Amino acid sequence: MKNISIWNKIYKNELFRPQYPNQNAEYFYLYHISKKKKSKLLDLGCGNFVNSKYFLEKKISVYSADFSYEALKSINYNKKIICRSENLPFKNNFFDYIFCDSVLYYNTFKQINKSIEEIHRVLKKHGIARITLLSDKSIDLVKTKAASNKFNKLEYNMNKTGINPKQIKKCFKNFKNLKIGMSSYNYVSINKQKIFYIITCSK
Ligand SMILES: C[S@@+](CC[C@H](N)C(=O)[O-])C[C@H]1O[C@@H](n2cnc3c(N)ncnc32)[C@H](O)[C@@H]1O
Repeated sequence: MKNISIWNKIYKNELFRPQYPNQNAEYFYLYHISKKKKSKLLDLGCGNFVNSKYFLEKKISVYSADFSYEALKSINYNKKIICRSENLPFKNNFFDYIFCDSVLYYNTFKQINKSIEEIHRVLKKHGIARITLLSDKSIDLVKTKAASNKFNKLEYNMNKTGINPKQIKKCFKNFKNLKIGMSSYNYVSINKQKIFYIITCSK
């Protein structure tokens, strides 16, 4: 089954319940978003809107985009857009900020690369993007049947692409101020880490 169909199934059955507020969104707001001027932010791969809701509460003009019809169906909001990250329906230099948390690694390397080009295109000069990617060392890349709940059963077996810092530098070559952070954890094992790269960069 294709990832998009699996995501539609997940949202249709209300299996994805991310934490609110998401710490990454909070830190992005706290350290990178101007509190002085009205900004436009793209929440790319917005899922069921948790991060969009957070940024809206901060009085930011949010555009919420996702390829899953089922994710967006129930959201009553006038700036929701169904699209793929590789082909964004926005004009050049449109957004002050782009937030893309845990989205791109559900795609092939080629699609990730194209999506990063699109993020660069639609970001304004001096605009800032925060993108979470999956490390090629992450346990997430090991397919398993030992999943604890319905969401994990579907999510663990999706196709995912891990990446390393050398590839990241290449993909983000057109950006400035590239910062590669990391978040890794496993509550029950030190040998099976979930490892994510948190990329912050500007145009
Ligand atoms: C793990 S969820 C993250 C949702 C949200 N960003 C969050 O942090 O709660 C991944 C989301 O990315 C979306 N997605 C994956 N690949 C995509 C693509 N190429 N274009 C648009 N959306 C995509 C899925 O539909 C899903 O809603």
